[in-house]
Amino acid sequence: MKLPTTLPAWHQLQALADAPVPHLRELLAEPGRATRLTHSAAGITLDASRQRVTPAIEQALAALAGQADLAAQREAMFRGDAINTTEDRPVLHVALRGDPLHTGPWGHAVQAEVQRELARVCDFADALAAGAVKGHSDQPITDVVNIGIGGSDLGPRMAADALAHLTDPAVPGPRVHFVSNPDAWALHSVLRGLDPARTLLVVSSKTFTTQETLTNAASAQRWLTDGGCPADRLHRHLVAITASPAQSARLGYPAERTFLFWDWVGGRYSVWSALGLALAIAIGAANFRDFLAGARAMDEHFRQAPLPQNLPVLMALHGIWNRNFLRLPTHLIVPYASRLARFTPFVQQMDMESNGKHTHLDGTPATVDTGPIVWGGLGIDGQHAYFQLVHQGRHTVPVDFIGVQNEDTPLPLAATHHAVVNLNLRAQAEAMARGRSLEDTRAQLLKDGLSAAQAQALAGHRSFDGNIPSHVLWLDRLDPQRLGALIALYEHKVFTQAAIWRINAYDQWGVELGKTMAKAMEKAATAS
Ligand code: F6P
Repeated sequence: MKLPTTLPAWHQLQALADAPVPHLRELLAEPGRATRLTHSAAGITLDASRQRVTPAIEQALAALAGQADLAAQREAMFRGDAINTTEDRPVLHVALRGDPLHTGPWGHAVQAEVQRELARVCDFADALAAGAVKGHSDQPITDVVNIGIGGSDLGPRMAADALAHLTDPAVPGPRVHFVSNPDAWALHSVLRGLDPARTLLVVSSKTFTTQETLTNAASAQRWLTDGGCPADRLHRHLVAITASPAQSARLGYPAERTFLFWDWVGGRYSVWSALGLALAIAIGAANFRDFLAGARAMDEHFRQAPLPQNLPVLMALHGIWNRNFLRLPTHLIVPYASRLARFTPFVQQMDMESNGKHTHLDGTPATVDTGPIVWGGLGIDGQHAYFQLVHQGRHTVPVDFIGVQNEDTPLPLAATHHAVVNLNLRAQAEAMARGRSLEDTRAQLLKDGLSAAQAQALAGHRSFDGNIPSHVLWLDRLDPQRLGALIALYEHKVFTQAAIWRINAYDQWGVELGKTMAKAMEKAATAS
């Protein structure tokens, strides 16, 4: 196994980081830089010109990807090799969005299973939309409550929010709600507005053993029966989504209302599977298929685009430069479209649960820093909260700005809103990159009419080091295809970093100990 520190490019990058790297103010003055570092794929444009990289650093990063056998590792994933070594499983979320008409490298067996289950999901979403799914008293279902946590919640919830404009409140169709926290209020606050006779519970859990989800599911079932549903008709209100159908059957979920995914789909990569049922219901089956097609377009780009134009690989390599060589431990993700408010927590799980690892694939202790701390939220809100620390605090925080080019909200002043939002995004990226030197600040204060003494006293407070690296990602518009492509972009970025760091991005042993302890405490409390 080629550990990263054994690769010549790693040492070359270390030497480049040890020498002074020019300030972004200087780098941005380089002719042709924006063109060289701006690339598009699948309706998304990445502007990487504000990364602290020179052509020599870019070449060394490309060499690193080559020496780490990235292309071979990528093909191993698409082929279905058991790259999740600690669980001896393939990692095939890419097959979930494969071309329905052409079998991908994962083969016919996987293709057939995926397409069969996708058809079941789409048929069920269509039946719900048509009012053909009825509750115990033969009234059509009007509300769907997805009960799940982590990967069984974050993806469909985020995407349903991001594509909320595809749900017309004037058109009767099931409303979709999400509950994850087992705190009673979380469930109560959703159920209290609903009619038990017309509510469907979608219990989403890969393992169907997650304590939080089963607690919420049991309580919601009690709400149904207390609300008048006879026990022998409860099944009309229940759907299970799982990779453990024996477990859901044991808990009374009927097979015909159980939608399947497989152990080769990681929870945090499962929004493309039956686990996306709540999303398919929210946006309609045709839009759900478009969402898959957008991810497929990014998969094709990831497999085929040469490295200097390959969006996920570029983002991953810049992340490695920032994390391992500039030694910046955190990574801020700030979408500027309010519909993408849940995108950061979604990526936070995907990245941190995948690459927050302390061992290489062979079980030896990691010799390099692995996944960064991912944080953030809506950029505009962040500007009025934590951006102060980003601009002038003692941490340098690399940023991903995410904006949407076109606006389609039918408000008369929508274009004005849109301009305000996107101007702010551009201004923040520029301010963070360029900053404002002490000299320029002093000159500006004098120009504003301050005395020399006042300007001298304030210049330090009002100057900005800048040199904060960022990516700016522009979606042409916010639609199912672009959203699918955006998620796949981050998935492949995480894959690429794990491939170079030689860690397993697809297990999550770190969350097990706390779970085991909680179960032991529950058992002890019940026994006493
Ligand atoms: O938090 C750990 C985790 O296993 C996540 O990986 C997963 O998404 C979540 O719990 C929920 O698990 P399940 O889908 O099995 O209920």
